[in-house]
Amino acid sequence: MFSERLQTAINDQINAEYYSAYLYLSMAAYLEYKDLPGMAHWMRMQYEEEVFHALRFFDFMNDRSARVILKAIDAPPTDFGSVEEVFAEVLAHEQKVTALIHNLYNLAVEENDYPTQTLLQWFIDEQVEEEKTANDVLARIRMVKDYPPGLLMIDQELATRPAPTPPVAAAGQP
Ligand code: FEO
Repeated sequence: MFSERLQTAINDQINAEYYSAYLYLSMAAYLEYKDLPGMAHWMRMQYEEEVFHALRFFDFMNDRSARVILKAIDAPPTDFGSVEEVFAEVLAHEQKVTALIHNLYNLAVEENDYPTQTLLQWFIDEQVEEEKTANDVLARIRMVKDYPPGLLMIDQELATRPAPTPPVAAAGQP
């Protein structure tokens, strides 16, 4: 039995994942404008990853014959003050998403919904990785502060981030 309460919460999470995507795309636009194409690329990959997260929940709902209800996506901020503030916001945002995923897991436990718990296990692990990555980039940006050669070096490094794996392949399904 896939409870209505849990279905509603997953629909809310789909919206949260699309908001994350939109936020990172807005950050990519800001970084492009600041002439940091490597960082903009990194953020665009982050955007794509969030779309895949949303689609994972979308496919899960459909696989269980639940009704996906898409809601309006809030407008993201457009100005971030500095490169350091951009990445500090990425980390803070991922910490918020981790809390959302944990709350969703608690609800799945309350509702005795084992398939949702299994799905969320992947997201719980993913959030550990997401926070670590954001933290690593932020730490390096804080190390170089506003020293342009340092920032350019990080920019070149972030330009090499590979495209994320689509959800079906990531789930190990044919
Ligand atoms: Fe969908 Fe970055 O967590």
